[in-house]
Amino acid sequence: QKQIQIAPSILSADFSKLGTDIVMVDEGGADVIHYDVMDGHFVPNITIGPLVLNSIRKCTQLPIDVHLMIENADNYIPAFAEAGADWISVHVEACPHLHRSIQLIKGLGKRAGVVLNPHTPLSAIEDILPDVDFVLIMSVNPGFGGQSLIPSTLDKIARLKDLLIQKHLEHIEIEIDGGVKLDNIKQVIDAGTDIIVSGSGIYNTPDPKATIRQMKSI
Ligand code: DX5
Ligand code: ZN
Repeated sequence: QKQIQIAPSILSADFSKLGTDIVMVDEGGADVIHYDVMDGHFVPNITIGPLVLNSIRKCTQLPIDVHLMIENADNYIPAFAEAGADWISVHVEACPHLHRSIQLIKGLGKRAGVVLNPHTPLSAIEDILPDVDFVLIMSVNPGFGGQSLIPSTLDKIARLKDLLIQKHLEHIEIEIDGGVKLDNIKQVIDAGTDIIVSGSGIYNTPDPKATIRQMKSI
């Protein structure tokens, strides 16, 4: 039985005190820091790049999970690796040469993940599965924090879990991103999720540390 990992998304942190907000979730028992990169092309929003990653790298010893929602990811993967990423994931919809992108991440010594938008079928990643360390299932349309979880994505996670067992690839971890909160985390875990990203579900609660502890106790 794998231990569930909680990955607060700093997209919902207060960027005027980003370091403090990262230390807070670290102290609260977070397992991973989720770092959302958006380019205004692949998704309709712009966030942060390698420069900010380099600054926050010194605030925590936790692994940093860089979720690239960008086009031309291959051009930027080395800079994120250099800036301190531990895990790097790329979207199947944004990478025409997905195998090359995944090998690039692994060649830099980082854990590699592939991400699927809510509408993208599992069949799109079947052939890349043996090459990845984790699969990130988007449970909202990427671009913004604070959206509601799309229920059909939980069924997709359950089907992915079955597929991994069938292919003897149980070591691959399943991550979910979008709309996960205390009130639906039980269903998310029951579907077969290993790593839970939560932005507003942690940072927009009165006591984020207590929220993480509660999430971990479920
Ligand atoms: C959405 C981002 C998410 C986002 C999740 O495009 O990839 O990581 O921060 O935020 P919540 O948990 O608020 O849906
Ligand atoms: Zn994300």
